[in-house]
Amino acid sequence: MCGIIGYVGHNLCIPKIIHGLENLEYRGYDSAGIAYVLNNKTKIIKEKGKISNLKKLLDFDTTTNLGIAHTRWATHGEANKINAHPHSLGKFTIVHNGIIENYSKLKQELENNGYVFKSETDTEVACALLDEIYKQEKDILKALNKVTKIFRGSYAFGIICSDDPNAIYALRCTSPLIVANSPDGNFIASDVPAILKYTNKYILLDDFDIAKLTKDNIIIYDEFLHETKKKVNTFSGTFESAAKNGYEHFMLKEIHEQDKVFKDTINFYFDGTIESLKKNFSFLKKYNKIDIVACGSAYHTGLVGKSLIENYVNIPVNVEVASEYRYKRCFYDYNTLVILVSQSGETADTLAALRKAKNDGITTMAIVNVVGSSIAREADHVIYIKAGCEIAVATTKAYLAQLAIFSLLTIYLGYQNKTISENELNIILDDLKKMPKLINDTIKNYNSYFNIADKIYKNKQIFFIGRGIDYALSMEGSLKLKEISYINSVAYQAGELKHGTISLITKNTPVIAIATDTKLIEKTISNIKETKARGAYVIYVSNEEPSEKFYDELIKIHKVHPILQSILTIVPLQLLAYKVAKNNGCDIDQPRNLAKSVTVE
Ligand code: AGP
Ligand code: GLU
Repeated sequence: MCGIIGYVGHNLCIPKIIHGLENLEYRGYDSAGIAYVLNNKTKIIKEKGKISNLKKLLDFDTTTNLGIAHTRWATHGEANKINAHPHSLGKFTIVHNGIIENYSKLKQELENNGYVFKSETDTEVACALLDEIYKQEKDILKALNKVTKIFRGSYAFGIICSDDPNAIYALRCTSPLIVANSPDGNFIASDVPAILKYTNKYILLDDFDIAKLTKDNIIIYDEFLHETKKKVNTFSGTFESAAKNGYEHFMLKEIHEQDKVFKDTINFYFDGTIESLKKNFSFLKKYNKIDIVACGSAYHTGLVGKSLIENYVNIPVNVEVASEYRYKRCFYDYNTLVILVSQSGETADTLAALRKAKNDGITTMAIVNVVGSSIAREADHVIYIKAGCEIAVATTKAYLAQLAIFSLLTIYLGYQNKTISENELNIILDDLKKMPKLINDTIKNYNSYFNIADKIYKNKQIFFIGRGIDYALSMEGSLKLKEISYINSVAYQAGELKHGTISLITKNTPVIAIATDTKLIEKTISNIKETKARGAYVIYVSNEEPSEKFYDELIKIHKVHPILQSILTIVPLQLLAYKVAKNNGCDIDQPRNLAKSVTVE
């Protein structure tokens, strides 16, 4: 889930791996630890909380040149020092991202065989199993290979064996893991930023590959234990692009990048001519039923996509949360396309949904940000958004770029299906050109949203309501708010409120009401009035100036063609959530309990 880094080379390892670990901090974690080899003995130091707590316990001049380190996002057992990684049992010390699903049964068997566990983690069980199998096999590679046949779940491991203290071993299944050679030495890492200071060249291990790293060598073995050569990838981003650039938080910086991200994403596929869309998206023509599958904010993008495609292309679209989709019965037909949406491209549930669709012989298309990620590699077609590295755990620019892709797909398919006329197309394309400036104008208006945030940030609960596409946006606005401010927030279909939830509206309860869909505005206004009559403090978000004052605060957004409208509407909601969280003193870029890339089920 969170971060792994390992180093073996001619230099001191602690400064290098702590630097790498800090570059993985943005992924969210609850404890950190390191294991290094000194005079052929493995030493483990770990601590609860931030890496800065761990650093206080370390001597950076320790003459060790081999080590592994980890930031943990607890899945099995409380976030405390004992459960923090690395874990060690018998001859093995390991760091682990992911979940060993059958750990409980394995634990019982291992306990019967005499192993005693200190932690509650699945990782310590993995360590013991490895040790037990190694006792039988007497060969590290064979033992590593054998455990892959026993473990169920997802894992990326960094491993030290006391019988071979000059090597780091790495092994993965589903959770990502890279190895890299640099002039400074050899690395393993769960993600490129960890090693970018030393090299931008890396090899992505495939499932069940085993890598053995020594000072001067990296050898990779495939699942049959044959030595194998792998493609060396080059990462083209820079660290500067990941720095805060003077903004107080990555989230704020990323919100401000959205005009550029929009432009980069659109320009990558569209040069102003329908021909360019045809070239990039013509493979989509033959599908007449679409399933969109994703998690969290990416799921919310899917809901906007559904509304656009159903209304402007006339194709039925089913949107599902990936963790449900992977276990449900799917009623595909011959021309179904499954679209997976994922910023990281590593979300375990989305990856599993992709694999399920592929197993069923269904064509898959992924909308992904991270180049070369698992979902991008496994999907039949990939559309990359051009959001660049997104550091804040709460997504903003990647979400907006995903919306941009759904707008483009809708424009292309609608024109192709003749459900969008030539005339309407020209209106849309005219607005499309103006969008970067309009996004920028909306961001620049941040003070007015901040003033509203200052009035509502002390509330214990905040509601979002909307109809149709505005409900989809409400869901994202509400998620943004709750994930970074910890204020309880629910998004409701405006018309459904009266069937129960309205009982929660009392004097001064903030209700953020979104109404941009002209056909539904009047209906939504009636629902807003129902909340107002019960004392709600109404923040009205609309692209039309209302003729009467039924609200307490107005956020007026520029009106554009409905295919593009959501892209503007989401911006004030992001900034509102940001300021509410800031006023509450929350850890905006790394909210509690959350991780950037959710590689566990
Ligand atoms: C949103 O701010 C995130 N915290 C989360 O909901 C995220 O969108 C979800 O986990 C999906 O991630 P992905 O796009 O990397 O697949
Ligand atoms: N399942 C392991 C644990 O709970 C690893 C979690 C992680 O990916 O950080 O310790």
